[in-house]
Amino acid sequence: MKEWTREERYRVLQGPEDIRGLYERIKTSAYRQRWHVQPITGLSSDPNGFALHKGTWHLCYQWCPWGAVHGLKYWYHVTSSDLIHWQNTGIGLAPDCFYDNRGAHSGSAISRDGALVFFYTGNHRDEDWTRTPYTCAAVLGEDGRPRKLEKPLFGPRDDHSEHQRDPKVVWNEEKGKYYIFIGAQTLDRRGCVLIYESRQLLSGWRFAGELKVPGYEAFGGMWECPYIVNISGRDVLIFSPQYTKLPGRGESTNHNVYLIGNMDYDTLTFTPDGPYRHLDYGFDFYAAQGAASIGETDRAILIAWIGLPDNHYPTEEEDWEGSLSLPRELRIRDGKLVQTPLPGLATLRDTAITPDGTLPAVCELELTASGNEDLDFNLFTRTDGTGGLRLHYDSRVKRCTVDRSGMDRRFNQAVGEVLDMPLDAPLKKLRVLIDRCSAEIFANDGEATFTTHVYPTEREFNYTLSGGTLRGWTLKPSVTDEFVV
Ligand code: FRU
Repeated sequence: MKEWTREERYRVLQGPEDIRGLYERIKTSAYRQRWHVQPITGLSSDPNGFALHKGTWHLCYQWCPWGAVHGLKYWYHVTSSDLIHWQNTGIGLAPDCFYDNRGAHSGSAISRDGALVFFYTGNHRDEDWTRTPYTCAAVLGEDGRPRKLEKPLFGPRDDHSEHQRDPKVVWNEEKGKYYIFIGAQTLDRRGCVLIYESRQLLSGWRFAGELKVPGYEAFGGMWECPYIVNISGRDVLIFSPQYTKLPGRGESTNHNVYLIGNMDYDTLTFTPDGPYRHLDYGFDFYAAQGAASIGETDRAILIAWIGLPDNHYPTEEEDWEGSLSLPRELRIRDGKLVQTPLPGLATLRDTAITPDGTLPAVCELELTASGNEDLDFNLFTRTDGTGGLRLHYDSRVKRCTVDRSGMDRRFNQAVGEVLDMPLDAPLKKLRVLIDRCSAEIFANDGEATFTTHVYPTEREFNYTLSGGTLRGWTLKPSVTDEFVV
């Protein structure tokens, strides 16, 4: 694995020619995605600035141009008219001013009064590498490029640690105010959310207080990427707690969870209806964000980073890594979030698959079962059926177990290679969406999901199945992998 010096990781991009060679090299990789947003070069992590504005979906990702390393972060901007087909449009935000000199870190967007406004964290570091996070804004210009405000909206509070970032902006009609939720850490290293309020989007911000979440006063050491949305009359709080292990999640210390409950803006209290749940049960799912300004009350549209902080993936050898998940519809059913692929994804279906045990590199599979039987569905096996990503359903306890230790290319072994996806109902349906380096599994029409990176070798494009009925399709590509910088 390459050792990066700080100078290398934090190099400023002078122009497209700096990375054209890298782009030409990685674009031929067997693991480049065909229908997921992925880094043009280098590394992509969190989704940022996801919003619908004047009929166009805007989405950015945290981007380090230089390689598979978390260094100087840009926002790379992609757009779509249908959330299925995506175009590269170039750099959204560059870390090019005092306030973000060491990175334009994560944030959100909102479309209001004809303007699309982005909120992000300016990651400033001084010469001693001391960090000062600023909450900054930028407005989409006529030319499709965000223009930064000259000054930040506000700086950090000194009654919390330096970890204050990832502004999520929301409009509250009842109060006639905007609120910004900031992922933060207390001085004694507990994860929390700070709330700011203002009647205007670009000025007048004041600190309102720390969000109270009864029962979650000591839940992880930092809450990254908070996101709040109202779906069908209930408030949903999504966040990524770090520096803690959670039951059933192996050795991982990075998680993405949600609470359904009630957000009271008078007392700044989020009262959960019940316990937290994992947004996704897979190995690689983090920093999920919903699209803003979609103007609907019964669903949200969510996208996440297929990957985790502090983890390493095999394409590091090729100098790139990361992918965003597919956008998912989010609804509430029986007090739980359910997630389903967008209906439009069906337009990517190409040829129907003959269920003969071979697995196309890019496909959708649908398994239907009685719910009463145990199942073994092993993807990416060798021709003799050994190895692969092995999924076992135990009907007695209604649980799927996914084991990736049989794959030729193993990674993040220390975090754990076996995870469970518990279900409330018997397993009657599994939808598996496979791109060249990812698999996303949806159980029972979105009751639970499981997302993982997977890097099959040439001999692993097979599957075995005991039980159930399988059908499937190859999928057409929907991302342009063009060099737009
Ligand atoms: C989450 C995160 C955010 C931060 C960004 C930096 O993965 O750590 O908290 O803004 O990544 O890339």
